[in-house]
Amino acid sequence: MHLRVRKNKGEKIRKRLIGEDALDERMEVERDNRYLYFPLKKRVQYPDTRIVERAGVEKDARPKSLKESLSGTLSSGDLEYVPSSFDVIGDIAILEIPAKLEGKKEIVAKSLLKTFRNINVVAAKETRVSSEYRIRHVEVIAGERRTKTLHREHGCIYRLDVESAYFSPRLSAERLRVAKKVKKDERVLVMFAGVGPYAVLIAKKINPKEVIAVELNPDAVRYMGINVSLNRVNVEVIEGDVRVETPKLGRFNRIIMPLPKDAGDFLDVALPALKKDGVVHFYDFSHSREESIKKVRSLTEKLGYGIKVLDAVKCGSYNPSLNRICVDFKIDDHLE
Ligand SMILES: C[S@@+](CC[C@H](N)C(=O)[O-])C[C@H]1O[C@@H](n2cnc3c(N)ncnc32)[C@H](O)[C@@H]1O
Repeated sequence: MHLRVRKNKGEKIRKRLIGEDALDERMEVERDNRYLYFPLKKRVQYPDTRIVERAGVEKDARPKSLKESLSGTLSSGDLEYVPSSFDVIGDIAILEIPAKLEGKKEIVAKSLLKTFRNINVVAAKETRVSSEYRIRHVEVIAGERRTKTLHREHGCIYRLDVESAYFSPRLSAERLRVAKKVKKDERVLVMFAGVGPYAVLIAKKINPKEVIAVELNPDAVRYMGINVSLNRVNVEVIEGDVRVETPKLGRFNRIIMPLPKDAGDFLDVALPALKKDGVVHFYDFSHSREESIKKVRSLTEKLGYGIKVLDAVKCGSYNPSLNRICVDFKIDDHLE
């Protein structure tokens, strides 16, 4: 039994049905071009509405979170340790399994697979991101045995292997923020370019005069090449060390430096490659925006440059006390 209601009266009627405990919340509210159909627990009579018979659609009763899906399977003590969030790269979920749940990680992973239809692989983070390539080893604990996937972000697609190259879906909004600043006539250098998420996005959204991306990890470079082709964009991909390659590339209107721990060690090659009025997006891990600005000022001053800070944004975190900060700046004057 359903109550047929004109769409413009829907909200008012819904509230009234809930108030009178007449709405059957186990069933979906259905709709067509003109009407909403509210599933009823009991007969009601409201002006301008009509009781109609429909088959009805049961609501998806699947749990909404990983924790919810495990209640009843794990003890309440164990439930406390179930992660409330995890990264999703393509169809791979990457979880941090707390030591307390180590013996139950397969139960957790299988439950995650059942709960989220878009996930086909569940992997556990084995170590913190480490090494020059910023790679994270993972252990596949449920689903298909693979670490390769296809990730979608802002209308671009990225083929990648979560084990052989760095990629963080958490930086998606930050990449878009930077991309939106790029102008058509710019030459852009993406240092530490990974599998290409800055370079491809900028080329796709803005298609500026030139985008050059430099990356050291051969696996990441191979995927970046694939991603440039997949997205049909114009990016020059260079495999090599930023320190060696940058001086060969001329001057840029914009240089992106997404290597938070060590970007400071490369300012000596980045700054001479900047055009007048060129902008640097400098990534850092620190406790505050002020701390990062101070660091950038001090590093650039040591190199003989005065800078103008355009912005400093918090765009993630490394751990509960260390933020990922991007300082956008341009060179104000040469101090020497
Ligand atoms: C934190 S990741 C960022 C990757 C990518 N920009 C992204 O946002 O997904 C840093 C990348 O810099 C690369 N890298 C580290 N040192 C480098 C260097 N000296 N020259 C070029 N690339 C380097 C690493 O291999 C890694 O892929």
